[in-house]
Amino acid sequence: MARRRIIAGNWKMNKTPSEAVALVNELKDLVKNDNVDVVYCVPAIDIVPVVEATKGTNVAVGAENMYFEESGAYTGEISAAMLVDAGVKYVIIGHSERRDYFKEDDCLLNKKVKKAFEAGLTPILCCGESLEQREMGVTMDWIRMQIKSDLAGITADQVKSMVIAYEPIWAIGTGKTATADQAQEVCKAIRDCIGEMYDAATADAVRIQYGGSMNAGNAKELLAKDDIDGGLIGGASLKAEFGEVVNA
Ligand code: G3H
Repeated sequence: MARRRIIAGNWKMNKTPSEAVALVNELKDLVKNDNVDVVYCVPAIDIVPVVEATKGTNVAVGAENMYFEESGAYTGEISAAMLVDAGVKYVIIGHSERRDYFKEDDCLLNKKVKKAFEAGLTPILCCGESLEQREMGVTMDWIRMQIKSDLAGITADQVKSMVIAYEPIWAIGTGKTATADQAQEVCKAIRDCIGEMYDAATADAVRIQYGGSMNAGNAKELLAKDDIDGGLIGGASLKAEFGEVVNA
């Protein structure tokens, strides 16, 4: 099956609302490409102006996080329904920065994935190993554990529609990209794991991104690999270079 490519920017905690609109306008012509899904995952406060600024373009808007409860006394949190109402289509769940700094565990992330689907959002579920885990030789075990826990109770049809992002923690924001072969090896292992949990058709349909210092210089080689269907881009999504990644 030919999977449609998906290039998503993860702006992290960057860009005020007015800076966000300026960036959207700067990138508008550079990211035009009908053969690729292009997504900007932006800080919560930027969602409304970015949805407005991307209207009529090929860019969809994503959130960087959400909470799993419907509504209520959860100060500071944002619900899936709020995101949908604001025009959001995608939501990043389980980024390593949320797992690490905000102590989000797989049990919580599983609830978030379920809620995202229930609300009609497409989850971009992140997984990835630390440098210590890679050196200990437990990368595949760790990632399989993350995938199995985070997708518990999720149906095959839901998995077919979602996105999984493989992001080795040691490659995030470090300028140290996984080689294309290293990234392909893990992305294939993720697809094999989905095949074991569900079936071959589901494994074939799910889109898997690579993330970790992906940029205009290495995107082509990474995206040429059989099991890498796109990228989740941090630093390079905040500049004109993002257009080159989209068109790689
Ligand atoms: O979500 C994106 C990743 O954390 C990658 O960030 O491209 O700055 O390494 P980076």
